Amino acid sequence: MAANEDASCLFCAIISGKIPCHKVYETEHCLAFLDIMPISEGHTQVIPKYHAVTLGDLPDEYLREIGPIVKKVALATGVEQYNIVQNNGKMAFQHVPHVHFHVIPKPNETEGLIVGQQNWPQTKPENDVLAATCAKMRQRL
Ligand SMILES: *[C@@H]1O[C@H](CO)[C@@H](O)[C@H](O)[C@H]1NC(C)=O
Ligand SMILES: [Zn+2]
Repeated sequence: MAANEDASCLFCAIISGKIPCHKVYETEHCLAFLDIMPISEGHTQVIPKYHAVTLGDLPDEYLREIGPIVKKVALATGVEQYNIVQNNGKMAFQHVPHVHFHVIPKPNETEGLIVGQQNWPQTKPENDVLAATCAKMRQRL
């Protein structure tokens, strides 16, 4: 259960287990799980177990715990180059109103985040493909 839980929030539902996820890593205050529409293999969301819409609303104790987890997850992708993206507000491309840090591997020039492109080049892998990626990342933690 997220502190300050919002019943209509997708990420709060993932934290409480009402919606399943491919869990990569979890601590008392944070959760890391695979994005189900990844830009590249290993694209992960790292979120606080506290419903805050933007970073400015998030208590520092959650933020302190997130930083090292973002690093740990980035290393667990096994890809040397990557983007960490954290959007705040609709106009700033935030689609889920619960603070989240995207970890997006950049394996080569064509895959991963391409800044300037209008839409993120999302893919839609099958559940077993996501499960395999998740298992691979967990082994690297
Ligand atoms: C880019 O990296 C991905 C993931 O490793 C790979 O599947 C793809 O073939 C690569 N593309 C190029 C052009 O090297
Ligand atoms: Zn929430």
